[in-house]
Amino acid sequence: MNLILLGPPGAGKGTQAKRLETRHGIAQISTGDMLRAEVASGSEIGRQAKSIMEAGQLVPDALITEMLGRRIEAEDCARGFILDGFPRTVAQAESLDRMLAAKGRGLDRVIELKVDDAALVERISGRFTCAKCGEGYHDRFKRPKVEGVCDVCGGTEFTRRADDRAETVAARLEAYHRQTAPLLPYYAAQGRLVSVDGMAEMDEVSRQIEAALAR
Ligand code: AP5
Repeated sequence: MNLILLGPPGAGKGTQAKRLETRHGIAQISTGDMLRAEVASGSEIGRQAKSIMEAGQLVPDALITEMLGRRIEAEDCARGFILDGFPRTVAQAESLDRMLAAKGRGLDRVIELKVDDAALVERISGRFTCAKCGEGYHDRFKRPKVEGVCDVCGGTEFTRRADDRAETVAARLEAYHRQTAPLLPYYAAQGRLVSVDGMAEMDEVSRQIEAALAR
C-alpha cells in the first residue's frame, strides 16, 4: 500500500504516519525528518537546506526529488510507504508519478488532513520531541505520562524545532497555500484524494483514515 498524507504544517501528518506505519507495517517517509538529519550531519544537502527551512520556504524540487527517489528504493519500502511531507509542489507530484510508473508501482490513496489555519499555530508552537528517540509530544494535547520523562524510552531531554517559531510558521503556511494546495485538485482529478477531518481528536482522525483505506 502506497499512501500520501497531505496537509498544512501541524495538520498531524507525522502523528498519523507513525500510526499507519505501526498498524500496516509500511515505511513512514518524512522528507522534513530526512532534511533535518542532513542538516544535523552537516552534509552538502544539509548546508543547502538549512537556511531555506529556517525561513519556512520549500527546498528546491530537484534536491528533494533525488533524495526521495533514493529513499523509496530501500528495502523497507518494498511492502509500501507513507509519504509525509512529499510531494509539496505539482512538479514533485509529477516526478513521483514518473518514478512510480517506471517501477510498475502506483499510489493507492492520497489523504488530506483538513485543519483550520488558526489551530495550526497552537499545535506547532506547543510541539516538542524526545531528543533520544524522537517521540512527539505537545504542551497541551499530548504530555508525557510522567512529567519530563519520555513514555517510550525514558529519555529526559526534549527539543523544539528551529522552524516552529510563530513568524516562520506563518511563512510555512503561506508556502503551503501557494505551492502545495494545488495538489488537491491534481490528486482529485486522478480519483485518489480522500479528505478527513484533521480537527478531530487524534484517535478519531486515525479512525477516519482507516475507514477511507477500507473503502
Ligand atoms: P516538515 O517536517 O514536513 O514539516 P511540515 O509539513 O511543516 O509539517 P509538520 O511536521 O510541522 O507537521 P505535521 O503535519 O507532521 O504535524 P504533527 O503530526 O507533528 O517540513 C519542514 C520543512 O522541510 C519545510 O518547511 C521545508 O522547508 C522542508 N521540506 C520538507 N519536505 C519538503 C518537500 N517535499 N519539498 C520542499 N521542501 C520540503 O502535529 C503537530 C502537533 O499537533 C504535534 O504536537 C501533535 O501532537 C499535535 N497534533 C497532531 N494531531 C492532532 C490532533 N488531531 N489534535 C490535536 N493535536 C494534534
